[in-house]
Amino acid sequence: MKVLVLGGGGREHALCWALGRDHQVWCAPGNAGIAEIARCIDVDPTDTAAVREVALRAPVDLVVVGPEAPLVAGVADTLQAADIPVFGPTAEAARIEGSKAFAKDVMTAAGVATAGYWAGTDPEHARAALEDFAPPYVVKADGLAAGKGVRICADHAEAEQAITDLMVEQTLGAAGSMVVIEEFLDGPEVSVFGLCDGSDVVLLPPAQDFKRARDGNEGPNTGGMGAYSPYPIDDADFEKLRGSVFEPVMAELGSRGMRYVGVLYAGLILTRDGPKVLEFNARFGDPETQVVVPRLGGDLGRLLLACATGRLAQVDPPTVEDHACVAVVLASGGYPGAYQTGAPISGLDSAGNSEGRVVVFHAGTRRVDGDIVTAGGRVLAVTGCGATVADACATAYAAADRISFQGLHRRSDIAAGV
Ligand code: AMP
Ligand code: GLY
Repeated sequence: MKVLVLGGGGREHALCWALGRDHQVWCAPGNAGIAEIARCIDVDPTDTAAVREVALRAPVDLVVVGPEAPLVAGVADTLQAADIPVFGPTAEAARIEGSKAFAKDVMTAAGVATAGYWAGTDPEHARAALEDFAPPYVVKADGLAAGKGVRICADHAEAEQAITDLMVEQTLGAAGSMVVIEEFLDGPEVSVFGLCDGSDVVLLPPAQDFKRARDGNEGPNTGGMGAYSPYPIDDADFEKLRGSVFEPVMAELGSRGMRYVGVLYAGLILTRDGPKVLEFNARFGDPETQVVVPRLGGDLGRLLLACATGRLAQVDPPTVEDHACVAVVLASGGYPGAYQTGAPISGLDSAGNSEGRVVVFHAGTRRVDGDIVTAGGRVLAVTGCGATVADACATAYAAADRISFQGLHRRSDIAAGV
């Protein structure tokens, strides 16, 4: 097959890397690392008409959508209308990620365990609703806010301030015009990806992401500074998620006329009362993909095409290798705030050739006159694999130690002590 991947981050590099084992891969727009294994096309993935043109002209057999922005822009709708198989939900179904209130409504209707909540657009009502919750208060912007939409507030005054910021001062613009107030869930957080074809689902092995910028889970929220898989969870409990979370959500969306095709990514908190869904995303996680995909055997393209064409029940589920993977993200100084780009990166080849099984996935990189330079907040994700999480962790850090660029910052405690 010829497969077109949309996006240009570490997640897309991992997808291109796995798809490239069995297929010819194109990527729009890609990055310097992806360019070494795929044909990169300079097209904005949110320009749905331009994506359709590339897909028809190639022609490609399958389009795999990486980030949420092209989904929200309706790229799956446009491709479906042109009869091009696409792995990714329609814009309407992607609201499971784009609107927290919509996701809550779907979960309630589907009987999925989640944090108790209030949602509304009136700041007075929001302040009054705080009375129904206990500290710490969780106040969220309804819309997409690039990881800045959630405020965990220690006391009532802080929660009132969060409501004022979002709804009155509109610090996040339209994303905060509706607010969700939520019960605080206590427990470890785990990411589970379900590959969906509208009625069936294949669960991929669980991973844990490290969202805060600095060691010890301190500092601001980021897109993710590292991840590992497998996350230790009892097999039977894990399998139950299919019937308690994924199938009911897909069925509920289906009953509302939204056939859900693509990744349904459940962010779960393993509470003392069992797993509860914190949020859904309509795409693969980044950097979780960089630790989940290297553990899969078999033909990923065939699996994703089966989802896109509603034939998941007819293909074998992917084999999952026993080994563990750990990814360490190397970020630009200042990320997730302002950062500089254009710094030359050294040590990439040496890292890739270091001892043990290592893959250096590129996120924000660009090639300038033969040099690979930084071009984003998250620059690289160095994935190490090993028999145990501890082995994989040592391999990942030994490889990451060989890479340098001006301003490099990373966490030193990814998967530490697991
Ligand atoms: P989200 O943008 O919804 O993924 O939230 C960002 C982070 O805030 C999550 O990864 C959690 O660590 C934290 N968080 C969000 N909602 C809750 C909640 N109800 N209880 C505890 N932590 C939460
Ligand atoms: N790593 C979290 C996310 O992709 O949303």
